[in-house]
Amino acid sequence: MIVGAAALIIIAAPAGPAAAEGDPAASRRLAEEFACNSCHGLMTGAEEIAPHLAGQKKDYLARQLQAFREPRAKTPGPYKVIERDHPVITAWMRPLDDEDIEDLSEYFAGLPCVPRRKYSETQVPRPPLVDRCRFCHGETGVNPYLGYPNIGGQKKTYLVRQLLAFRKSADHGGAVIKKSKDERFHRMMAPSIYDLGDGEIEALAEYYSKQSCR
Ligand code: HEC
Ligand code: HEC
Repeated sequence: MIVGAAALIIIAAPAGPAAAEGDPAASRRLAEEFACNSCHGLMTGAEEIAPHLAGQKKDYLARQLQAFREPRAKTPGPYKVIERDHPVITAWMRPLDDEDIEDLSEYFAGLPCVPRRKYSETQVPRPPLVDRCRFCHGETGVNPYLGYPNIGGQKKTYLVRQLLAFRKSADHGGAVIKKSKDERFHRMMAPSIYDLGDGEIEALAEYYSKQSCR
């Protein structure tokens, strides 16, 4: 019986095509195989809730894919933190192995982001709360830190959704409770957003989405 179950697991494991390291064409085929662009689009992203990936930081992308794949990240301390959980995406990421994650992250990070027109301050007022975010994300949402995502020019609907999810996770006091099913948690973002109202979140998302991506 045990042998049978093990064989089933092996058969069920999807075999993604291995992309040779540093081979963009192979990484691209991998992205096609996993249909990433059916939702994210090649450069711009087709769906309002699926974020732009082109030009995002490689380390950040890899970390997100790992967080989807393993909702219970290996965190120090007694509690396991669920950093990302999404009804569809979590399942989608499960077949990815470490090499796939490396290749896909490198591929999307290497695509040029499509710079948007930068809106002037009269068109999109700069919310004073940007003072709270700029240290990590940059004044216009572009920053040099490897693990911190760029958010300039990101889709507004996506940004709002993420900020609401971070805020919700902070309702648990930031300390993540075992079995919590928050869609998103991060130890830096929860305290950055916990006290903001819907209007403030909307204004921040509007501002960052109207900045250039680079
Ligand atoms: C069915 C549509 C769909 C498919 C297919 C899909 N994604 Fe996504 N992806 C999404 C959505 C929606 C989100 C946002 C989830 C959330 O709100 O947490 C997302 C989030 C992400 C993120 C997090 C980005 C960020 O800024 O935090 C990464 C990275 C990502 N996807 C990469 C991929 C890769 C690589 C593939 C192919 C293996 C893929 N996605 C396939 C819809 C999709
Ligand atoms: C102390 C540093 C820090 C501060 C301050 C901070 N952030 Fe973040 N932010 C991060 C990190 C790190 C991540 C990546 C979290 C992860 O890995 O899931 C992140 C993620 C995000 C994301 C998700 C991006 C994506 O592609 O999914 C958004 C949106 C965001 N921050 C907006 C903000 C806003 C708005 C503020 C100000 C109110 C802010 N952040 C303040 C560090 C910070």
